[in-house]
Amino acid sequence: MNAKIFILIMLLAVFSGVAQEDTQKLIDQLSVDEKIYLSIGTGMDIPGIPAGAEAPQAVVGSTKSEVAGAAGTSYPISKINLPPIVFADGPAGIRIDTVRPQAPGKTFYATAFPTASSLSSSWNIELAQQIGQAFGIEGRDYGVDFLLAPALNIHRNPLGGRNFEYYSEDPILAGEITAGFVNGVQAEGLGATIKHFVANNSETNRTALNTVVSERALREIYLRGFKLAIDKSEPWAIMSSYNKINGTYASENSELLTDLLRKEWGYEGFVMTDWFAGLDAVAQMRAGNDLLMPGTEVQFNAIKEAISNGTLEESILDRNLTATLNAYKKTFSCKGYEPSGVTDLEGHKMVARNAALEGMVLLKNENKVLPLKSDAKIALYGSASYETIAGGTGSGDVNKAYSVSVFEGLKNANVHLDQELTSIYEVYMKEERAKIPPKAMFFLKDELVPEKTWTEAELARAAKANDVAIFTLGRTSGEFQDRIEAGDFELTATELELISDLNKAFAAEGKPLVVLLNVGGVTETNSWKALADAILLIWQPGQEAGNAITDLLLGKANPSGKLPVTFPIALDDNPSSKNFPGIPLDPNAEKPANPLQGIPSEEIYEEGIYVGYRYFDTFEVPVSYPFGYGMSYTTFEYSDLQVESGATISVSFIVKNTGSVAGKEIAQLYVSAPEGTLEKPSKELKAFAKTALLEPGASETITLEINPESLASYDDKKHAWILDGGTYTLSIADNIASSKLKATLEIEATTVRETEALLVPQNALNTLSKN
Ligand code: BGC
Repeated sequence: MNAKIFILIMLLAVFSGVAQEDTQKLIDQLSVDEKIYLSIGTGMDIPGIPAGAEAPQAVVGSTKSEVAGAAGTSYPISKINLPPIVFADGPAGIRIDTVRPQAPGKTFYATAFPTASSLSSSWNIELAQQIGQAFGIEGRDYGVDFLLAPALNIHRNPLGGRNFEYYSEDPILAGEITAGFVNGVQAEGLGATIKHFVANNSETNRTALNTVVSERALREIYLRGFKLAIDKSEPWAIMSSYNKINGTYASENSELLTDLLRKEWGYEGFVMTDWFAGLDAVAQMRAGNDLLMPGTEVQFNAIKEAISNGTLEESILDRNLTATLNAYKKTFSCKGYEPSGVTDLEGHKMVARNAALEGMVLLKNENKVLPLKSDAKIALYGSASYETIAGGTGSGDVNKAYSVSVFEGLKNANVHLDQELTSIYEVYMKEERAKIPPKAMFFLKDELVPEKTWTEAELARAAKANDVAIFTLGRTSGEFQDRIEAGDFELTATELELISDLNKAFAAEGKPLVVLLNVGGVTETNSWKALADAILLIWQPGQEAGNAITDLLLGKANPSGKLPVTFPIALDDNPSSKNFPGIPLDPNAEKPANPLQGIPSEEIYEEGIYVGYRYFDTFEVPVSYPFGYGMSYTTFEYSDLQVESGATISVSFIVKNTGSVAGKEIAQLYVSAPEGTLEKPSKELKAFAKTALLEPGASETITLEINPESLASYDDKKHAWILDGGTYTLSIADNIASSKLKATLEIEATTVRETEALLVPQNALNTLSKN
């Protein structure tokens, strides 16, 4: 037998052993030092941050050679046959380096799937599961054990820098998509890590931010999706967030991580910190934050000191290690799996393309401008048509092999593109891109090529020569910074002018303007939407962007996405804009030089439970596009509502395709609860379903089941979930503002569940009320 094969077989035999061992027996064999090493990761090199006093150092030597570019590894202990466990981001694809020093000549590209806000717009749980499975396969093949995703923080404000990584303003939609995704990932044997637990909804000063939030808003909005995802998919790991919650860092918060998560919810996996989160390693250990990532020498020393002087009991480490090792034992590495280093990139192209399609939302389609005729002559405008944004930056980015722009997608489909225009753009994009210096650090925002301007005569020529103008508007964002209002949420003056000029020139020839929104989060649409004949929200749709968009533009597929978030008229219409993204406690404080640190700040969630549509609908504030909204190339009719009430409430109805092309519909169940002890939002999403592809004339019976307990509200004073008695209205709708069928239901008052008083704000907090 050749020596290499022999060593491999021996390693497999050694490492697969750990998976079967009793966890307590493993822990019993460890010294205190080994227990501490296992409680923290093996450190991280941070590209772009010079080594020095403030750059955290690896504690035990890096095991980064395992999988280059992975975010972290755990400490291997040969004595108990424990291999290093590999953790890699992120929500849009496996984030690892494309080359490895130990594998010269080989590449390790991963598929860039659509970003989270796109996936949730599909409202398709099976699709989320399918995407999760593709992540699972790529993780397995590339040697990853834990995916640091999915992320289900709430889109609390349009400016959230990482909203593209998050699913929705609604916790039910976010939780259901998360559960589908996690079930897919874990079905393939890759561990999922749901993050960032909890109330991490802004990026500014994120490591020094105190989120002040009512118990009710926490329970009903910010924790709810996590609870749902845990109940339905049992993620192996949870990542605690950077911020403080009502005065205590999430990672140091035993009310959050032990009393609520373990004792109340019964969660059995383990908790890791976000990278370098929190300040007090000993408090983190006590709180039940089992693993500190990526691991620093300072943390090792602090824990060691606390064990030596008796302020931290070794039994706490044992408790934490039990949770961690129980999860590790399920991993590829512990089972002795040998990654092939080659994955199904070819097969996953179609998975990514199909998902991108399902997540796109048709916002406007005047005079049925879309789909375009296959021989339509197209004038293609906008930097983002030529450099289409596949995803955001930071740990949510993916090192993909390629990305198809709108231009390339249309070219692939052999449509008639105005070549005079595309040639000018190709030169312009090249020249402008060359002027932009490369980013100093990988997580900084990508700089986009500024919009090109056109003269009236140039536009007039194009309008004469073509049948339609398409303009793609691009936005990008990422970690560490939130977006801003001027020129980001809002359009720049150049962009507005271009839309207006295109409208003028093309309308003069009786030709339409189509706008594609290539964005990760919400942008302003109200001031310019009248100038566009059609608007298609393509989000940041992953590496197959251009191909998927072309399928929709040409009617090879029918749009079936709906908004997971409200598009307001103005930023300030959103009540969270009043306090987003928090204010520094000391107004004169200067930003620390280390980008990993922030200015101590506070963000008071004064809007309470009135997040997203819960605010706009209840307070009757007009919006540009409502939650749950999205058009199709066909039409649907709803009928035959039946409600049966018992231990569960069962709601069934028929959806029929009444148009002339095949399509899928997303049906949404909203419930209006009677005002009782507690005030309520006017409506809340409680369940939803997406039909199969219905041919014209075909129909589908949909049955949605809800647990009456899910209609309860949380009473901050009684620390209990209360179901008020009275008449509940159930409406089946195709978006929050458009009810199709209605029924009422009488429900008796009950206290559903009493809880401990947990995560209570330090000072009395007045939140928005309609009374
Ligand atoms: C992000 C996490 C990510 C981690 C590891 C942090 O900056 O907040 O979402 O998983 O880095 O890359």
